Formats: sequence, structure tokens, C-alpha cells
Amino acid sequence: MECETRDPVSRWWQRGVIYQIYPRSFADTNGDGVGDLPGIIARLDYLEWLGVDAIWLSPIYPSPMADFGYDITDYTDVHPLFGTLKDFDDLVTSAHRRGMKVIMDLVPNHTSEHHPWFVSSRASRQSPKRDWYIWRDAGPDGGPPNNWISNFGGSAWTLDKHTGQYYYHAYLKEQPDLNWRHQDVQSAIHDVMRFWLDRGVDGFRVDVIWHLIKDDQFRHNPPNPDYQPGEWPYRQLLATYTTDRPEVHDIIAGMRAVMNYYDDRLLIGEVYLPIERLVTYYGTAESGCHLPFNFQLIAVPWRADAVAAAVDAYESALPSHGWPNWVLGNHDKPRIAARIGPAQARVAAMLLLTLRGTPTLYYGDELGMEGVAIPTHLAQDPWEHRQPGLGLGRDPSRTPMQWNRSPHAGFTRGIPWLPLSPSFRTVNVDTERMNSTSLLTLHRRLIALRRAEPALNTGAYHRIPGTDDIMMFVRQAGASRFLIALNFSSKPAALSWSGTRYRGTIVISTALNREGERFEDGITLRPDEGIVSIVSDET
Ligand code: NOJ
Ligand code: CA
Repeated sequence: MECETRDPVSRWWQRGVIYQIYPRSFADTNGDGVGDLPGIIARLDYLEWLGVDAIWLSPIYPSPMADFGYDITDYTDVHPLFGTLKDFDDLVTSAHRRGMKVIMDLVPNHTSEHHPWFVSSRASRQSPKRDWYIWRDAGPDGGPPNNWISNFGGSAWTLDKHTGQYYYHAYLKEQPDLNWRHQDVQSAIHDVMRFWLDRGVDGFRVDVIWHLIKDDQFRHNPPNPDYQPGEWPYRQLLATYTTDRPEVHDIIAGMRAVMNYYDDRLLIGEVYLPIERLVTYYGTAESGCHLPFNFQLIAVPWRADAVAAAVDAYESALPSHGWPNWVLGNHDKPRIAARIGPAQARVAAMLLLTLRGTPTLYYGDELGMEGVAIPTHLAQDPWEHRQPGLGLGRDPSRTPMQWNRSPHAGFTRGIPWLPLSPSFRTVNVDTERMNSTSLLTLHRRLIALRRAEPALNTGAYHRIPGTDDIMMFVRQAGASRFLIALNFSSKPAALSWSGTRYRGTIVISTALNREGERFEDGITLRPDEGIVSIVSDET
């Protein structure tokens, strides 16, 4: 399959690499065991050295932390745990000085139950803010208004005894959903966006954007015929009437209109949907998300054929104005190295950084941080508390960044809020930086090559036939062509050309001592090896 970049003028977010920071876990400067904004500022040198173009910060707003910042009490301030607005401004200035962009997490689907808007809304049925949230009378049986369930378990409706009605919350009861059908809610969040855009923020990653509008008739969600006992209980029902409603695209267009007023800002939407639904979130060229997050690589079985098929399916489904993007992990999902092991994590890094489309890299994945088993008594994630033992808890992917071999890995001089991975003495920035074959060095080299070579950032993508174990594709801009071959297995894999023959030189390999090697009649990849090669000729 052949995919070209249609827009001749590429934007920073098309060429660049985004790096997700989970601020609690990145770098602590005051010894309270929780990362903070001064910590991020102090580590910008590292991010610049790594070569990333933008940082996305998970929420830093004032919050009771029922869901670690995804429950906000003030959209236009910074939680004292993380610092001050002044620290934030300093961060933006320091990042911009380095040519790095700053993307904030925007959480418009719900607030904290302690947000003044909800405090007012729940105070009485006559409150001017009553309809800013979703209130309903009890159902005919005297219970919740309908069968909608929370992502974190149980009914998505909580009875407010004082006013005798239920309010809807897609997540915790401490996170009531805003009513986006209300014009004042739209205006209030647009104002929040302007507040940050005026401060120089370069974009937003919008939390659960596909949830923003719910069915106006409050119909029951249908049962999911594919549900398997033991899996995530939320999947018992199809989210037909609670997510991905047609009107959501008008809401996104409203947000885009706010952003379009500013120069070159980026709107990313968090969307967990199948490809054909996901791509509708590109909207039209001026009305949709620039990048609806594409989580195919998180969901797909880690096999050459499955990954190649997912990439092709996504590329073919993109609208003509849609720029692709790729994600291997985030603060909600098992880490990539935990999922596929350290050897394949190198192959995954090469895939992420050579595909056509903006890569988003989750902090610590560049080191090969793995999932950390958290003892029950130290579990922090509310999801783990509500639905224990199902493997749904997200703490294992949120442990402190591993900077060096010192007692708390250089993350804090206090007690880290989550335990460190036992691996930190070898898997850390200082150690890996010194090692020319580490995963960190591999990331840095791939990022540098990607930045230097138009073929690898905005160039065309053209997949070529591989084998059961090898995925291959070409990236091309003008006469510059790179062939990428990835061995998804732990066995050597030989490949001879069928049809077009490629003659080239290996530029980067995940294996040792291969760079500079030339090939002509085919390639034999070592176990778990990926290569990026310059193709000098094609016959
Ligand atoms: C998605 C966020 O990524 C996740 O961490 C959070 O719990 C839910 N949205 C609710 O805001
Ligand atoms: Ca701190």
C-alpha cells in the first residue's frame, strides 16, 4: 500500500515527536515524593538531548486526586503539589527557548465533585448551574435512571439524596460528567482553553473526547454479545448511547474554532474506537482533531502480520487531510516492554519512530521501564481499589522515572509516591546514556535520523511484502529512500526479494555491529532485529 503526504507544507506536529510526561512520576524537587513542575524544568536538558519536539503533561490542575488529577476543581490554576502558575510559565518559556512545544491535558468531560460548578449544581434543583451536569430522576424501579455503567465499575449514576436525583459519571462518582449540550458549559471550557493558549500553550490532548455527548433520550445500552466473563466489566454493555454520539463532532468543531484563532496549535483527542470510527474524529480539515490518538499498536497482537495489517488498515482509512499518529503506551496501559519483552521493545521503538505519522512516546519507555508489581497495600489507582485483582490497575505503568542508580533513582530525596522498579540500577538514564547500544541510545539515534531525513518524517509510506515474522516498508521523499525491516520473532529470519530488489546499506540496527553492512539479494535479520537502511538502488 502507498501513502503520500498530501500537504506540501508540514507542521511542527507532523515532523516532530511528542513525549508524554506523567508529572507525579517524572522528577521531584522538594522531597515530598511527588514529581513537580520545577522537576520537569530541571530535566528539559535531557529531553532536548533525547531530541523530542513537544511534551504533553498529564493534568497539573488543582484536584483532590481521586483520579490523580483527572478530577479537576479549578481549570485555570496549578495544583500546589506541582508548583505555581509562575512555575508553569517558566516551564513554557524554558521549553520554547529550546524549540520545544508544550501540550496540556484538557479534561472537559467531567470535573471533580468539589469543583464550584458541581457544588452549586448539586445544591438545589433550582441552581443556575443545575443543568451544567447530567441530572435525572430515578428509573421506574426506583433505582438508577438506566443501565449505564461506569468505566471503573458499578452504575454510572449516583443518587444525590439531598435533591433526590441521580447524576451521571462515566468514571468515579467523584467525577461528575458535564452536560456539553449546555451552551454555557461550552463557553466556559472555551474560556479555559483561551486562558492556556494565551499563556503560550501549543496544544491540548483532550481527555475522553469521544465521551463528551451522551444520548439525549437516555436509552439503555445494549448487551455486548462478545463479552467474556473475567474481562473488564465495563465491556458487558456496548457504549452505544454513552459514547461516539454524532453530535460530538459539533462540540469538537467548537473547540477547533477556538484553536484556529491562534497560530499553529495542536488538538489531540483521546479516542478508543475501532479504526473506521476513529478516523471520523479527523472531522473536516478545519473542524476536527488534528490527531485523534491512534492506539492500534497498543491493541494489536504483537506479530508481524497483525501489526502490518493494522498499519495498512489505518493508513487506508485516513481521510485525505488526515495526518497519522502512533502510540505504544500511556499512563492507562501496560508498558510496551512489559507487554512484549525487552528484546521486542527495541523493534517496537524502531517501528514507532519510522512509521509515517507523529509518534507519542511515554516517559520511561525510552529506557525500557517495565511494569512494576505494586503490593496491594501500596496500590494507589482508584480503579485497582474498585475492581481489584482483574489486572486493570494502572499503577504498574506510573512508577517514578529512573534517572540514575542512586537510592531513589534520582527521582526524589524523599519516599516516592509509588515504588520504584527493582530494575532501576541498570535501567536508568545515566547508565543508558553512556552505553552506545542501550535502548535509550537507540531512541536518540532514531529520533535524530527521523528529524534529519524528510523521508522518515513526512515522507511517503509504502509497505512491501514480508514474511510471517518480518514486516517491511519503505519511506521515501524525492530520491531519498529508506527501507525498514523488522523481525518480530526471536529466531533469525531470512528474506529474499520477490519482485522489486532493493540494494542498500544498514544505517541503524537494533542488533550489534551491523551498521554499514550492505545488502543486495535479500536480508537475514538476527533474532529480534530491526534495521533502518538507505536504499541506494532498486532493480
Ligand atoms: C482517560 C485518562 O487517560 C485516564 O487516566 C482517566 O482515568 C480517565 N480518562 C478519566 O478522566
Ligand atoms: Ca514534589
